[in-house]
Amino acid sequence: MFVSAQVFRFSNMNSNKEIDYNINAHNRIAAKYERIHDEIFNDIEQARVHNALEEAIRAIESGKEDLKALDVGCGSGNLTRHLIDHGLYTVSADVSENFLKLIKQKFASTSLSKTLKLNGLDLADIDDCSFDIAAAYSVLHHVPDYLHLVKEMCRVLKPGGIIYIDHEACQSRYSKPPEYVEFLNAATPKSYILWKYVRLLLSFRFYVNFIKKRINPRFIGEGDIHVWPDDHIEWDKIQHVLSAQNFEIITRKDYLVCRNSYIESVYEAYKHKCCDTTMLIARKKAESPANT
Ligand SMILES: C[S@@+](CC[C@H](N)C(=O)[O-])C[C@H]1O[C@@H](n2cnc3c(N)ncnc32)[C@H](O)[C@@H]1O
Repeated sequence: MFVSAQVFRFSNMNSNKEIDYNINAHNRIAAKYERIHDEIFNDIEQARVHNALEEAIRAIESGKEDLKALDVGCGSGNLTRHLIDHGLYTVSADVSENFLKLIKQKFASTSLSKTLKLNGLDLADIDDCSFDIAAAYSVLHHVPDYLHLVKEMCRVLKPGGIIYIDHEACQSRYSKPPEYVEFLNAATPKSYILWKYVRLLLSFRFYVNFIKKRINPRFIGEGDIHVWPDDHIEWDKIQHVLSAQNFEIITRKDYLVCRNSYIESVYEAYKHKCCDTTMLIARKKAESPANT
């Protein structure tokens, strides 16, 4: 599966084009990003992220004071906000200028915030062993060579530092076991689906996107995204990179992501029966090839 997905990527696409496409798409949606992502900006998901980051920060062994975090693909500051709340000096890094502008505005009142423009390929402007935690939430599926970016995150971490990767699909999102299909069918009220379709039919963008999807069935308004059964991020490959860089896995958790639109009782009934998303925490061992 991995080989076919990689062959598909590199034979069909040019990385720089993919990155430019993503930069434009994210610049366009930056201002409304939090409004359109109810799977991130809801109380249940925010509490889960807060706790997961707390666990990640507790696992840091590179130091205990003046901890420095890197939020890779920071967007509007979802992780940045939690990292700063946890007291970490946070460098919010992104390819999108509009997202970085938002971060500057939002965190202007704290001395714990800094922004950094990324090139979309690697972390070229960042020194080796300079961070205590490097985090990426819902980012890797946008990145042309995501395994290289993971390796780069390893490089910039101090020994004892933590890599935190969250909100990427797990295998059952693609294999769709019966409980997950059952959940998806029951989770969203029919009235909400109907309202959503009516709104879609009334928007001009729906018709533009409809035509774009006819031309390219993998078109998504938020850029080039690798979330297809034959082209998606693969957790086992990420773990392989991490162990080659001498990282130890602290936690790998599959969970069922919560949306505002879900019926709460249905979500509660299924949240331990099925999953669609993964979070991983790993620590850089003292003697690591990524240090050299
Ligand atoms: C789905 S958003 C996630 C944003 C944020 N991490 C969050 O938790 O809401 C994806 C982010 O990845 C960024 N991105 C896209 N391509 C990238 C690349 N090649 N390298 C780094 N970041 C990228 C986008 O600009 C955007 O901020």
